[in-house]
Amino acid sequence: MKLTYYGHSCFEVVTGGKSILFDPFIRPNELASHIDVEQIDPDYILITHGHADHVADVEEIAKRSGALLVSNFEIINWFASKGVENGHPMNHGGSKKFDFGTVKYVNAVHSSSMPDGSYGGNPGGFVLETDEGNLYHAGDTAIMADMQFIGEDTKIDIALLPIGDNFTMGIEDAIKSAKLIKCDRIVGMHYDTFPPIALNANRATSKFLKSEVDLTLMKIGETITV
Ligand code: NI
Ligand code: MN
Repeated sequence: MKLTYYGHSCFEVVTGGKSILFDPFIRPNELASHIDVEQIDPDYILITHGHADHVADVEEIAKRSGALLVSNFEIINWFASKGVENGHPMNHGGSKKFDFGTVKYVNAVHSSSMPDGSYGGNPGGFVLETDEGNLYHAGDTAIMADMQFIGEDTKIDIALLPIGDNFTMGIEDAIKSAKLIKCDRIVGMHYDTFPPIALNANRATSKFLKSEVDLTLMKIGETITV
């Protein structure tokens, strides 16, 4: 699979000929000003929770591309009320098979409200199982014991974990999370976008190295093959 980073918690996964976009927050992100949103043409948009820094560009991209939104029940209904009716609601613990693989909506320890303040359900993350490997996008979360089950149930090849601290877990808990999910290949997310989540990249890299967990900090716009 191919993995492209668009900043903050926004990634595009291309697998099985399909494009899956996570948590689009590009236009309001000054660090991602070089990304051309109009070139992003996903088949699916997966939304972990309702906060603006995860949904800001959903409406624009969904309306243009016709992508299927996948998220919790409340978020799918909220976007339907905005005229984005191509949605598939899920809730925690549920799995659904799509044409690129299976998606499981898993827990996250965080909060979730929509940009207008309406209820955004409970926050989550996604586990993708595909023929080209398995990926975990943790959303915004603290470390949680459920991560152990995720690691037991699925061999996670690559995990996208928040490391920016303050609003989510930071470096140390992300390393512990990597052990819980039994994954030694981590891509960091949710850092540097706002002053409270500025990351000391050298410190992060050396802490991960000492723990023998591989940390990748992707450049915004960079694509890697997993
Ligand atoms: Ni959040
Ligand atoms: Mn966030």
